[in-house]
Amino acid sequence: MVRAPLSSGSLSDGDVSSLSGGRLPVIDMSSLFARERTEARERVAREIERACRDTGFFYVSGHGVSESLLDRLERVSRRFFALSREEKEAIAMPKGGAAWRGWFPLGGELTSGKPDRKEGLYLGTELGPEHPRVREGWPLHGANLWPAEVPELRDVVLEYLSVVTRAGHALMEGVALSLGLEADYFAKTYTADPTVLFRVFHYPAEPEEGEERWGVGEHTDYGLLTLLAQDANGGLQVKSQGGWVEAPPTPGTLVCNIGDMLDRLTGGWYRSTPHRVKNVSGRDRLSYPLFFDPDFAAEVPPLPRVRSTDVDEDRARRWDGASVHAFEGTYGDYLLGKVSKVFPQLVRKVL
Ligand code: OGA
Ligand code: NI
Repeated sequence: MVRAPLSSGSLSDGDVSSLSGGRLPVIDMSSLFARERTEARERVAREIERACRDTGFFYVSGHGVSESLLDRLERVSRRFFALSREEKEAIAMPKGGAAWRGWFPLGGELTSGKPDRKEGLYLGTELGPEHPRVREGWPLHGANLWPAEVPELRDVVLEYLSVVTRAGHALMEGVALSLGLEADYFAKTYTADPTVLFRVFHYPAEPEEGEERWGVGEHTDYGLLTLLAQDANGGLQVKSQGGWVEAPPTPGTLVCNIGDMLDRLTGGWYRSTPHRVKNVSGRDRLSYPLFFDPDFAAEVPPLPRVRSTDVDEDRARRWDGASVHAFEGTYGDYLLGKVSKVFPQLVRKVL
């Protein structure tokens, strides 16, 4: 396991640690794509276990996303955000209805109850009107909204979704092995038809020194795994056991972190780690999180033989006071509950 360098960029927030203990590991996941490489896969599984038990955040290399695909994604995304407000309004989120797709403006999303300093494009698995779940009007299922002025965005995003979804399946095999389960455990239970949501975020350069507004406020992610590509500007911060640490851009890697459903499945053995973003680079930052989550219709009970979790202690450390271990229902129910907190206006309109 190699170590990612710490960024040397200055941060206005004094509590970000740059102690060596704060470095996040880099895990080469390439063997997870090859079932026959048993020994190498076991080694990766142990690295995943160590990383998940430690910060719950790590970098992956060998993920299968080419440099040229990332370059294309960055180019079309920058062109999209450079469009006029009117052009972006043409695909604003309320137009996506219950499918929950499209553009939202700066300040349009509330994390931890406060407006974020970012704008974004919400995307996900492309489902046509004939898909049974779309016909039945399932929320968060449907077609993406594509900008007419940047037609290339569609192909690039669909290619990216397909490559990173493959990496998500492979990583979940590593996670299964790390927990002493068969490699295909999750594919057989929750991820044969995963919920895949994808976002392209634009964090504008900070307008004023010292303004206390987060690009994204402190939160945990909701599902199983998040795989994040980010540009060269940095700004992602992770709450490690020793305090906040940076997750600076590291060439050739994606950032991976575990979400609430893995926390729940493992009875808190793996914790979904709080993180946040502050763009202090002085430049516009773009990031691309893909959320690889359980089937919308799946219930996600704790794995057999996990110890029970102290729900009160878990509630106390979560910004919304809601413990993922006390929750009952499907992953879709959980997701909708969360989404209605970050987009309260939209929920009233479309659901
Ligand atoms: C998220 C998130 C980090 C980033 O979307 O959940 O934490 O760098 N994003 O955009
Ligand atoms: Ni997040």
